[in-house]
Amino acid sequence: MRPFRFVTATAFAVMMAAAVPAHALPTLSGDDPIVIAHRGASGYLPEHTLAAYELAIKMGAQYIEPDLQLTKDGHLVAMHDDTLTRTTNVASQFAARNGGYKVSDFTLAEIKTLTVLPQGTAQNTYPGFTPTSADPLRVPTFQEVIDLAKQQSQANGRVVGLYPEAKQADPVMENLILSTLKSSGYGAATDKVFIQSFSNATIQSLNVKQSVESMALDLVQLGAAVTITDAQGNKQFLIGLFDGSAIPLDLIAQYVDGLGVVINYPGYDVTEEFIAAAHALGLEVHGWTFGQADPAKAIPEYWKFYLRGMDGVFSNYPDLAVRALASVPAPGAVGLLGIGLVGLAAAHRRRAPRA
Ligand code: G3P
Ligand code: CA
Repeated sequence: MRPFRFVTATAFAVMMAAAVPAHALPTLSGDDPIVIAHRGASGYLPEHTLAAYELAIKMGAQYIEPDLQLTKDGHLVAMHDDTLTRTTNVASQFAARNGGYKVSDFTLAEIKTLTVLPQGTAQNTYPGFTPTSADPLRVPTFQEVIDLAKQQSQANGRVVGLYPEAKQADPVMENLILSTLKSSGYGAATDKVFIQSFSNATIQSLNVKQSVESMALDLVQLGAAVTITDAQGNKQFLIGLFDGSAIPLDLIAQYVDGLGVVINYPGYDVTEEFIAAAHALGLEVHGWTFGQADPAKAIPEYWKFYLRGMDGVFSNYPDLAVRALASVPAPGAVGLLGIGLVGLAAAHRRRAPRA
């Protein structure tokens, strides 16, 4: 049973007025949804740094998400963009190459001289948190992210999962992702790893290559939830890809374990019935990106998707995702409580990370 935490006397009164019981959520496994730290705790610290990943783990995230790019000399590094421009101080350290600062034009040694800069609401430090890494704000390699996950698993007494994304549709990148994971001891279906990509060709290729390597890590196709209703009112559910195509869920279920779907995208709502259709085919549904910094807005948004049965949330503020999970109301209560829930969410306060 889910622990039911009452944050303030006011919130307590609001919740009790609705007679809300503790309850399980309709995820595929029946377990609580997973919290995936999107680029680390990227709402608080510079994205895709060891500091941001470690803070996310301290905040209770079950998985850390490194987007992956390839350097000029063939190393996988954690970075969202295919250039160094937005997230690092490269422009003050190097002259442009081929008209810009592509990751693939720089060696790992060069990239390691750069500092990752905070974006949006992130800052260089977080109150009460000291990273254990000696160099927490550099661009980490994929191997360094894996090593951190293992070290933090030991330190926290729980397995920290990995959720790498192949950012390029590139066979060399596919091979490196698999070989890095395999040499680090990952390969079984039960290992806490999801490999994701927007490219369906990449996902299909990873599926074949895993078979060859006797690996069975979970694969996740990224895209958008598509629901088509015919003239008779029958509904078909598909995953929409960003090349404009869409794949019926029963087809993609033959080679993926989950769907990573955009939330709050007009026309592509991740409805309860879409999630139920995915579950009926054995597919998990993970939503991205939960980026609300304000608890009064963030908490009800998590609740909405948790109650629909979403199996995982990519969050920039993993502490809020965890906090929302600990206080999710019973089905139907959101509508009944209305503004009261907004008040409850507002009662949540940002706190220092757990030890
Ligand atoms: O991978 C899920 C989500 O992270 C996709 O968005 O652009 O942040 O990688 P992006
Ligand atoms: Ca990503």
